Amino acid sequence: MSQPISTAVKIGTAEAPDGGAIPRHVAIIMDGNGRWAKARSLPRAAGHREGAEALRRIVRAAAEFGVDYLTVFGFSSENWKRPAEEVTDLMGLLRLYLRKEIAEIDREGVRLRVIGDRDRLSDDIIKLIEDAEQRTGANTRLNLTVALSYGGRAEIVRAAQRLAKAVRAGSLDPEDINEDSFHRHLFTADIPDPDLVIRTSGEKRISNFLLWQSAYAEYVFMDKLWPDFAGEDLKSAIAEFGGRKRRYGAAG
Ligand code: IPE
Ligand code: IPE
Ligand code: MG
Repeated sequence: MSQPISTAVKIGTAEAPDGGAIPRHVAIIMDGNGRWAKARSLPRAAGHREGAEALRRIVRAAAEFGVDYLTVFGFSSENWKRPAEEVTDLMGLLRLYLRKEIAEIDREGVRLRVIGDRDRLSDDIIKLIEDAEQRTGANTRLNLTVALSYGGRAEIVRAAQRLAKAVRAGSLDPEDINEDSFHRHLFTADIPDPDLVIRTSGEKRISNFLLWQSAYAEYVFMDKLWPDFAGEDLKSAIAEFGGRKRRYGAAG
């Protein structure tokens, strides 16, 4: 289970297998659990269970590759529209993950944070999240952020509301609303923007994930379904990232 995934990439180095840069922040849209299950005539819940296993693997691999921030899309604000039974299964898995994995995550030096609309989560899950964030708050090896009940547009609207309230209260001048102050009101105020966004399952869309933060991210779309995603796949996405030239609008 804890075998090193790569010998080519050493912990903490900033060099990818092909000599390119290691992205400081990797974000993943973990998609394809349902299709993985369907291909095996299994219930969708079985796909989600395997998806949770894949997350365990990839957290470990990301830390080994020297990634500092890993953000994963676990449940979108739009996923509440799924059948109640599936939502219940996903929330059950989340409970299990937060209860069973947290000791291991903590031992491995991972700091866990959750972003998204907590008000829609049940009280016991909110408590598990708060406990996990507190327990791992001082860890520095890898920053793992799980987006739950998260939507990029909702996040931007929430930031706008907060800024508007500060203006109404007289503590903010509208002239001081800029990209920096806006960013400080996002869930990711303390997290750098993603360098690399990976989506599995062959879909080529972002489905409301990190809209503001991904303005200059590099995207890698992969056909593998999330439950099949392995450390080697993360390594090849990082290698592809290493070969990209980022220009940020400047002349190349
Ligand atoms: C991703 O897998 C997990 C969640 C969105 C919660 P899906 O459940 O979307 O799987 P597909 O896209 O139906 O295969
Ligand atoms: C995005 O996947 C959300 C997560 C991976 C948690 P979806 O499966 O919900 O996205 P769409 O419906 O294909 O756009
Ligand atoms: Mg999907």
